[in-house]
Amino acid sequence: MRMKWVVCVGVFWILSISTAHAAKDICSLKPKDLPLEPVCIYRNPNVPDNEEAPTGIPEKIPGSTNPRVWELSKANGRFAISLFKQLTKNKSVEANIFMSPLSISTAFAMTKLGACNRTLEQIMKVFEFDMIKEKTSEQVHFFFAKLNCRLYRKTHNSVELVSANRLFGEKSFEFNENYQNISEMVYGAKLLPLNFKEKPELSRQRINEWISEKTNHRINDTLPEGSVNGDTILVLVNTIYFKGQWKNKFDRLNSMESKFYVSETHSCPVQMMYQENSYNFGIFPEDKVKVLEMFYNGEGISMIIVLPHGNTELTKVEENLSLKKLSGWLNDMKSKSVAVHFPRFRIEDNFTLKEKLEAMGLQDIFSSQHASLPGLVASNEDDLYVTDAFHKAFLEVNEEGSEAAAATGIVFHGRSINLNREVFVADRPFLLFIRETTINTLIFAGRVADPCSSS
Ligand SMILES: *[C@@H]1O[C@H](CO)[C@@H](O)[C@H](O)[C@H]1NC(C)=O
Ligand SMILES: *[C@@H]1O[C@H](CO)[C@@H](O)[C@H](O)[C@H]1NC(C)=O
Ligand SMILES: *[C@@H]1O[C@H](CO)[C@@H](O)[C@H](O)[C@H]1NC(C)=O
Ligand SMILES: *[C@@H]1O[C@H](CO)[C@@H](O)[C@H](O)[C@H]1NC(C)=O
Ligand SMILES: *[C@@H]1O[C@H](CO)[C@@H](O)[C@H](O)[C@H]1NC(C)=O
Ligand SMILES: *[C@@H]1O[C@H](CO)[C@@H](O)[C@H](O)[C@H]1NC(C)=O
Repeated sequence: MRMKWVVCVGVFWILSISTAHAAKDICSLKPKDLPLEPVCIYRNPNVPDNEEAPTGIPEKIPGSTNPRVWELSKANGRFAISLFKQLTKNKSVEANIFMSPLSISTAFAMTKLGACNRTLEQIMKVFEFDMIKEKTSEQVHFFFAKLNCRLYRKTHNSVELVSANRLFGEKSFEFNENYQNISEMVYGAKLLPLNFKEKPELSRQRINEWISEKTNHRINDTLPEGSVNGDTILVLVNTIYFKGQWKNKFDRLNSMESKFYVSETHSCPVQMMYQENSYNFGIFPEDKVKVLEMFYNGEGISMIIVLPHGNTELTKVEENLSLKKLSGWLNDMKSKSVAVHFPRFRIEDNFTLKEKLEAMGLQDIFSSQHASLPGLVASNEDDLYVTDAFHKAFLEVNEEGSEAAAATGIVFHGRSINLNREVFVADRPFLLFIRETTINTLIFAGRVADPCSSS
């Protein structure tokens, strides 16, 4: 009999107050210190030598960054854009999209630990882990650990970025000890036994409560009814939670109701925030977009906004989007004085990943006939498969999160005319990314097409 396995991903993100996050000791380890021996190994026979630099100009690796961590970050970025494009295919152009591709990559890297054969090969390909040079399969977890150290250890001055992972397993079932050990060491994901067989509904609620707690109660009900039943043996959860204050806060007094043009024929009222300040900014006429980068306190994390020119549909920009294009924009941006009009909004998104990932080539893992996940179970029996993967994310953007900061000296009050300034009016659908700035890891990606319902 095939057993079931549910992968689950919950995500939460909000902009406001502040605290720092603690370190994990794995951060100082070397590969040889970690007993990372996945059951199976897949190596891409033809990893190109200089895949991202066809022009022959080698790409610059940021200082003090392990080149493999840098490659993993890029692999995650390419997956992020592919998944984003896959999501746009199945959504109306007027629908918001928001997700954490990093959270999804992490959850599937955790499943990769136990995967073999074509199941493993497809994970490696779809998540682009196979493009990291040499010994990828064995070491991708080590580099994930290092990437996580960079992302989550940094105290990012008054920005909080926390990831929490957990495995929930059927209590009567014996899981592979090595799998549990690696999962705990690399991803901090301990196994918690639950009684799925006799109490599937109660187990589902327990898991949803755990997610809710880890996300400050912003993400409830991640696993829908019926997603867990008596055949479930493992549920894997990854959550990401972020809170940050703008480096340059908006003054509430400058916010006013204004129109947001969802489409040519349909507009709706939003609270439009305003400030003029110095920002990383670029205009790219050949791509018909303006790109603005707004930093959070500490400058380790930023929000990138891609706004199409007034006569250009966002879908055209989405079609041409790639990690290379996005990185190209970021490299060509300069610090400028910009008058920014940006809506206050809150968006929520949830979807099941199964069809999207299947369309991208991840098929065997969801198939009761073809899945090969022998590394997860103690007996090495190969009768598990993944029934579905759920993702839920939430984003709130506002002036600052607290009153007091409105007094920050750098805010330009009023609308005094600076002839050299650029103008950035986000009053029509735009793309949004939240990234770690030194290694350009895309933590969140989204499209804001209709911010009105919640501004
Ligand atoms: C999205 O995909 C589902 C299932 O494949 C389909 O039923 C639905 O109509 C699609 N929605 C859109 C907006 O394309
Ligand atoms: C991989 O596939 C081969 C042939 O399909 C099979 O004989 C072998 O048992 C599989 N290995 C694992 C670990 O699943
Ligand atoms: C897993 O970790 C436990 C506790 O640290 C250890 O006793 C055990 O030998 C480890 N098992 C494997 C298979 O590495
Ligand atoms: C989630 O549930 C908690 C407790 O029931 C509630 O306080 C909170 O408002 C809910 N969050 C959302 C976003 O609905
Ligand atoms: C998309 O790319 C094509 C081919 O490079 C180009 O002709 C077109 O203008 C681009 N569209 C946008 C909106 O950038
Ligand atoms: C997921 O989003 C849809 C709208 O896209 C909503 O109707 C549904 O209630 C949401 N499900 C959960 C579990 O939040």
